[in-house]
Amino acid sequence: MSMSEAGNIKRYTVTSALPYANGPKHIGHLAGAYIPADVYVRFLRLLQKNVVFVCGSDEHGTAIPNQALKEGTTSQAIIDKYHVLIRDCLYQLGISFDIYHRTSEAIHHQTSQEFFLTLFNKGLLTEVTSEQYFDDEVKMFLADRYIVGTCPRCGNPNAYGDQCERCGSTLSPSELINPHSTLSGKAPVLRSTKHWYLPLQDYEPWLREWILKSHEKDWKTNVYGQCKSWIDSGLLPRAMTRDLDWGIKVPLPDAEGKVLYVWFDAPIGYISATRALFSELSEGKKKYSSPQSDFGKVKPDDWKKYWQDPDTKLVHFVGKDNIVFHCIIFPVMLHASEQYILPDNVPANEFMNLEGDKMSTSRGWSIEMHEYIESFPDKPDVLRYALLTNLPETKDSEFTWKDFQSKNNNELVAIFGNFVNRALVLTQKYFDNKVPARGKLSDVDVAVAKAVKEFPGRIGAAIEGYRFREATALMMDLSRTGNKYLAETEPWKIAKTDMERVGTILNLALQISANLAVLTEPFLPFSSRKLKNMLQLKDLLWSDTGSVDLLPDGHALGQSSLLFEKIEDSIIEDQIRKLNEKKMSVEGNTPPGEAPVAKPVKPLKPEVTIDDFSKLDIRIGKVIAAEKMEKSDKLLKLTVNSGLDTRTILSGIAKHFTPEEMVGQQVTFIANLAPRKMMGIESQGMILSAEDKDGKLKLLQPNGEVEPGANVS
Ligand code: MF3
Ligand code: ZN
Repeated sequence: MSMSEAGNIKRYTVTSALPYANGPKHIGHLAGAYIPADVYVRFLRLLQKNVVFVCGSDEHGTAIPNQALKEGTTSQAIIDKYHVLIRDCLYQLGISFDIYHRTSEAIHHQTSQEFFLTLFNKGLLTEVTSEQYFDDEVKMFLADRYIVGTCPRCGNPNAYGDQCERCGSTLSPSELINPHSTLSGKAPVLRSTKHWYLPLQDYEPWLREWILKSHEKDWKTNVYGQCKSWIDSGLLPRAMTRDLDWGIKVPLPDAEGKVLYVWFDAPIGYISATRALFSELSEGKKKYSSPQSDFGKVKPDDWKKYWQDPDTKLVHFVGKDNIVFHCIIFPVMLHASEQYILPDNVPANEFMNLEGDKMSTSRGWSIEMHEYIESFPDKPDVLRYALLTNLPETKDSEFTWKDFQSKNNNELVAIFGNFVNRALVLTQKYFDNKVPARGKLSDVDVAVAKAVKEFPGRIGAAIEGYRFREATALMMDLSRTGNKYLAETEPWKIAKTDMERVGTILNLALQISANLAVLTEPFLPFSSRKLKNMLQLKDLLWSDTGSVDLLPDGHALGQSSLLFEKIEDSIIEDQIRKLNEKKMSVEGNTPPGEAPVAKPVKPLKPEVTIDDFSKLDIRIGKVIAAEKMEKSDKLLKLTVNSGLDTRTILSGIAKHFTPEEMVGQQVTFIANLAPRKMMGIESQGMILSAEDKDGKLKLLQPNGEVEPGANVS
């Protein structure tokens, strides 16, 4: 039974995955682990639950020195730069962490080392000397991300030693095919080294009981399924230390040059962040916090309640590539320590694609948080809404700029904004900007009041069940209900005849708006604030909503303005162009050793006239014989039925097609090109082809059979 069912929850600890401070983070990350967590937490706060929401930068692991190498700077400079960038973006998008900490802080080093020693002193870590990859040129053991090779599962040539980012498999360096060092590009050699392992296999019975039995019902199927397949495929000991000069020192006397594995220390970062928060709070110098949180008077040790008291509900929000770490490895660490509570749930999301392709910062196919903020500084809620309505909750989803525009124009502007604006403007016009009293209620009025009553419970249940898409849709449905109510009752038409009736309608419309001001807060916090100001509504709680008595008669409203504005096509086209330009510029600059995913499009040649073009005689022919040219690995000698004659064409396609493959193919060729002699043989034409993204040639062919000699025009 999960603790939420037990119903004795005293407090909540909510975490969002600590982003690596090795580069900017994109909107796919935001959709995966940050926005859903923020909705959840804001909702809990509106229920006046005791909740702490922690996050921070993950500043260890090879991702950091790797990036330093790329940017030609130090690891310290990298984390300092990206910590600030990511933190500021997240806060600007309204993610209301109580603290955004850093794993480079002393308190985190201390917490992690203590944790390691707890396990070590209990005899729970196994010391093993093994052979590991070593780069002989730079004289370094190659941890995880310093080794790249072909993924044994999906064939991705750029899989890392610990993970394939294409298929999501968790790997170990020895599984990679053709491994090479990212530092020297050389194939690594094996050397022996000592490390401390967590014997995951010893915890299999416990994991089966805890996850497979007790969380079968309440964990999401994508999460449960990944855990089950991990456990079923056999758990292996996992090294908790690494040979690396960047990270937290292993706190043992004989561990020179060794640091804690980043996936050992990073999740402990949640604990040290909470620790740091309460120590800051107790000294009255909290730096980052959400205004909603009020922890009252606290002692530095209060963090323990959030991590050690079984009446605390712990929820980890992560993306799908983080599932095993949060469901298996970290819980085993927590369980083994015998000091900590376990996560009640890990509502992980799948991935969000972008305009038909996987989102990736390194490939330039991404919308980074800071890029969005630069383009739309006053629209954090529009992004939140576009992501929330499209979360990859059960399967991968896709963000497109067109959808973003349509969510803004057709929903936020046309439904929510329009409804609220009509209610406010009409009240200004007819009632001096004061809430009119209700008269006798008609059936539509009673029905709308009844509908309003249902929403808080339904939205809340969806949030508690981690169904954020559904919750967001319900929130918009409430606006829709209000919009429909005004469309049906048409108060602007009755104004000439029955002012009391107009008052009743506007009163109800304003009450619905007030409900919206509160109920949209988890999803659209900035618009919620704006709306509360327009309504001069004080901060209410979730439990206050569902009622049509939030605004007293005669209550003076504030100044109204538009909640959302339309986004024009040209703005969207600009964004799509920007996206494509970024991809091209990144691909043109791929560092050596990393195969580009696609080649940049070549620049346009100078303009030609139709007369220039018509000078070319382009025709379709059929290959009747083909052979390799001696002494050339590039050229194929093709015998082509051109319709006019049988001619010889030499073509530089030998690396892409075998002679056998070519026989019988239709080819498009230039028939009137001056003959050219190559390696003693005259070529009478030129075959047309195009390169695919991997650089492989594809023949240009008509999309059906045509007679040899047919003209291309
Ligand atoms: N830095 C990791 C990533 O970006 C996430 C770490 S989550 C934590 O994938 F639990 F380890 F903190
Ligand atoms: Zn793979």
